Amino acid sequence: MQIIAHRGASGTAPENTITAFQLALDAGVSGIELDVQMVSGVAVVLHDRWLQKTTNGMGLTQDIDLAYLQSLDAGGGQSVPRLGDVLQLINGSCLVNIELKAPDCELAVLAEIEYALAALNFSVEQFLISSFNHHSLQKIKQLAPELKLGALTANLPLSYAQFATDIQAWSVHCAIDFIDQAFVDDAHQRGLQVWVYTVNQIEDIDAMLKLGVDAIFTDYPSRSIQYLNSISC
Ligand code: G3P
Ligand code: MG
Repeated sequence: MQIIAHRGASGTAPENTITAFQLALDAGVSGIELDVQMVSGVAVVLHDRWLQKTTNGMGLTQDIDLAYLQSLDAGGGQSVPRLGDVLQLINGSCLVNIELKAPDCELAVLAEIEYALAALNFSVEQFLISSFNHHSLQKIKQLAPELKLGALTANLPLSYAQFATDIQAWSVHCAIDFIDQAFVDDAHQRGLQVWVYTVNQIEDIDAMLKLGVDAIFTDYPSRSIQYLNSISC
């Protein structure tokens, strides 16, 4: 089972910051998940629409400009990074799961990936684009069919993973609250990877291993990797 750092190593550093991503790289993760919002037409790494959730600023991301965003503290004196800054840091060391949080961010994200593929050490398989907005994923499929898609759900749909095959996804990303064996089996029969968020407790890691999920998103990548290593010997 692969370990994906959720918003970086967000259990031990401020989420979606360069420090959190560096800690995840140091832990030796298989992948890093991050969230993308749009500010002044630039893709930035931030989970919430409201700045006050994770910074010392106030207001909605859609109402501010990049200069104001970059003046804010996202934790430990760090500013909210641009997607490009984070890709430069990761530089092909692991998979990057870019979660689209904003409407109309597809072109900006694709431009950053195009740059990373041309100028950095990434290969196309190292990008995985996910979203709860499946229309947005459909747009990505049309514009860049070579990129892997992760269909996010917080639900347990009646038709199980059908929604993910409908958009030709590579993986389905499910909340731990509702995941069950029937869903995992259905997704696997469709050839989909099953990735589960957010898995922080040892008991939950054991449960995900039992279900046969392929990867977990965790806020504590270092201790999760140590635990998996400890039970594999
Ligand atoms: O991508 C998995 C997970 O991050 C989705 O939910 O709210 O943590 O972005 P959220
Ligand atoms: Mg996310």
